[in-house]
Amino acid sequence: MSAVTQRYNVGGIYLQRPFKIRRLGHFGFNVEKLPEGREFYGDLLGFTAADALDFSRAPWFPKDADLGDPRGYFMRYGTDHHAFVLFPKRVMDHRADRKFAPEVTINQITWQCGSLKEIVDAHTYFEEQQVRIQRVGRDMPGSNWHVYVYDPDGHTNEFYYGIEQIGWNRLSKPRDMYYRGFNEKPALPQMSEAAEVAEAQQKGIDIFSGHRPQPPNGAHYDVEGVLLPRPFKITKVGPVGLFVEDVERAENFYTERLGFVRSEESVYRGARCVFLRCGAEHHSVALYPKELRRILGFSEHTTCMSFGVEVGSYKQLRKAIEFLKGHGVTFVNSIPPELHPGIDYTAFALDPDGHCIQLYYYMEQIGWDGRVRPASERRRVNGQWPEALEPLSDTYVDQVFQGPLG
Ligand SMILES: [Fe+2]
Repeated sequence: MSAVTQRYNVGGIYLQRPFKIRRLGHFGFNVEKLPEGREFYGDLLGFTAADALDFSRAPWFPKDADLGDPRGYFMRYGTDHHAFVLFPKRVMDHRADRKFAPEVTINQITWQCGSLKEIVDAHTYFEEQQVRIQRVGRDMPGSNWHVYVYDPDGHTNEFYYGIEQIGWNRLSKPRDMYYRGFNEKPALPQMSEAAEVAEAQQKGIDIFSGHRPQPPNGAHYDVEGVLLPRPFKITKVGPVGLFVEDVERAENFYTERLGFVRSEESVYRGARCVFLRCGAEHHSVALYPKELRRILGFSEHTTCMSFGVEVGSYKQLRKAIEFLKGHGVTFVNSIPPELHPGIDYTAFALDPDGHCIQLYYYMEQIGWDGRVRPASERRRVNGQWPEALEPLSDTYVDQVFQGPLG
């Protein structure tokens, strides 16, 4: 019997699913070493605090246990309220509304879709497809409307629309506006954010009373013309690399259920690795068989192979490595190019918990015909890092960072 392919009208375009992932919006880790993690991601990598969420106020929070700092930290590099979250693992392990599988230290892998309707329809679709759903609604802080599901290995994938934008005055929305949060599927349509702000003012809420980060001190690095506290600027997050039990099972989930497209696969020491994209960049998700984890010498406490952070330029990448090494950060040197096709110069740093952070400045862009660059046409990286590089056909063609660097 031939399968009937259902089609969904998404903004006037027929798609196989009622939503389309546009990009990685944010990502997070649950960590044991929270103060050290805040220093690593904040002071060293330069993510800025947008808000903190105190879990000791939650009904499920164990009152007698000493779990350390009970707060989760929301951080950003651009105008999205958060691009990275750092949550306390010991607290998260008690959480009633989310269950993390034993080796899953990824708090969430979060994808931006195109509209609120896509999110609501995605929830219905996941129910129909029997994808395990965690929750649906709208969380504060961050204001994004979302649905959360689990992949076959237990990684939380979130789909969202409409994350809060933070502008020149660095202010987050005040807690008094959190009454517009939702713990259930919202009825459509909803009022716009502009209408929410107007309503808050009518209620007498001081809309400028939200969190504002401390101004940076010691901004003495000249980053291509602007003084910043470190010699580089994060300009994008992702890709996300996952160690999975069964690559084919995970690949089927990310392609069939979520709509990712396979860009490339590689074989390393007999292990098949798959690289999937949601937009024009070579890959946003990479799937690696779990047996590679030990072979590569990665921490066995986590199924995260790597979390990518792009910096603004090749020059910044070189400076970032020097800066991080100067602050005692450990780097992993044994990652072969088969494990990161589409990225040329890259470095892998370890966070205090042992999570691997992939620093890079360029990713191959894939055009209308879906073809990746042939291996023979790719830049050869031989361990030498020259002062400057020749451009490729797709150098500096992806979307530039929006707004000032700091
Ligand atoms: Fe999220």
